[in-house]
Amino acid sequence: PRVVVLISGTGSNLQALIDAIAQGTLKAEIPLVISNRSKVFGLERAAKAGIPTKVHALKPYTTAGKPRTEYDADLAQLIVEAKPDLVVLAGFMHILSPAFLDQFPSTPLINLHPALPGQFDGARAIERAFEAFQKGEIKHTGVMVHRVIQAVDGGEPLLVKEVEIKPEDDLAALQERIHSVEHVLLVQGASLVLEQESHKNKSA
Ligand code: GRF
Repeated sequence: PRVVVLISGTGSNLQALIDAIAQGTLKAEIPLVISNRSKVFGLERAAKAGIPTKVHALKPYTTAGKPRTEYDADLAQLIVEAKPDLVVLAGFMHILSPAFLDQFPSTPLINLHPALPGQFDGARAIERAFEAFQKGEIKHTGVMVHRVIQAVDGGEPLLVKEVEIKPEDDLAALQERIHSVEHVLLVQGASLVLEQESHKNKSA
């Protein structure tokens, strides 16, 4: 199966997918990695693994006065051309519009979000969880992999893993603990969905 991965940064979650494929734990290939930013380490990780990459930045659209919907439509086209069986958002920073999602009626899209369902939706989730912990509002946080639907980070969770916050943690310690959980959960989430898809296609 073909997994297209969208990134915006370091790409440590992309690396987890690349490593799982290399080890044979994830039976898939990554025909294309798309980043919305050009100078990100995730692109180097893809190149090192021999994976084609594309940069699809929003800025040229805004400077040319083109609407966001055009950016999304072109992004969808790039993905469709790669004929994905699954699209993975691995730290992709843009919110995808309903029009974008409509281009993928039968292709599953999953997103990794470093928080528990319904908590800290959107950006800076780890920092916000850490702040809430310091205020005594929460005891732990978590990571989830969910299907991408119109509501931001609102898709039905496929996998959820709680992550403890230790009293002696600083933000970096929590981020490190969360990232190590993400890397495992994203690979599990991808194989789970590919499994579901293969059953669906067989029964269809
Ligand atoms: C991860 O915490 C991811 O869950 C969040 O952004 C970060 C991306 O990390 N959305 P990386 O680029 O995969 O290292």
